[in-house]
Amino acid sequence: MDHVIAELRTYVKQKLEKEGSGHDWYHIDRVVKQARSIAKEEGANLFICEVAALVHDLADDKIASSEQAGLEEVEQLLFPLNKADLEHVLEIITTISFKGGNRPPVRSLEAKVVQDADRLDAIGAIGVARTFVYAGSKGDLIYDPSIQPREHMSASSYRNEKSTAINHFYEKLLNLKALMNTNTGLRIAEERHEFMTSFLSQFHGEWEGLK
Ligand code: ADP
Ligand code: NI
Repeated sequence: MDHVIAELRTYVKQKLEKEGSGHDWYHIDRVVKQARSIAKEEGANLFICEVAALVHDLADDKIASSEQAGLEEVEQLLFPLNKADLEHVLEIITTISFKGGNRPPVRSLEAKVVQDADRLDAIGAIGVARTFVYAGSKGDLIYDPSIQPREHMSASSYRNEKSTAINHFYEKLLNLKALMNTNTGLRIAEERHEFMTSFLSQFHGEWEGLK
């Protein structure tokens, strides 16, 4: 099945090469590598994890014209897979997205692995960088002390209401460590989480002119 992976890589790479909101090809490439390494430690199916990681953002509403259109594209791309594998990959990519936290829990080990790999790419130093690029692409401020972080968000308020890059840490990123599915993912998340809390403490100190 190596040729299936190679062809998928070429397709996804040319499609997402110029994407500017933090879902570019290198995000996919990092998630694939992380998913492979978690899958090995957790004993998950490597082929399913790698295929699902490669296509995981194609049905995202930021990239596809609609989730339905994105899923149809993925279904066509994955024609070499048998029916069970195809259905498994589709289930993984429809259940792993965060969308304000309003999603049912993922089921299979492979879904857990790919979700952990995707979430790990939202935290740590890479997570800090992606947050500011995403906020910049939406025209959000770095920080505005008059805008409180939201505690409860519907999928549409998570996407559409104005917030700030710093608020995104409190609304989502600091919560991800506790949501890790696998022990391998949790171990990596712990170090990245600490890096973010230290970044935030330095940020607030500088903001107040204390550091
Ligand atoms: P979701 O988890 O809803 O699918 P994504 O994973 O697609 O969101 O988000 C892509 C990247 O942009 C991630 O690193 C995420 O943390 C960041 N991001 C998402 N929403 C915001 C936001 N409102 N402000 C800043 N960064 C964001
Ligand atoms: Ni992703």
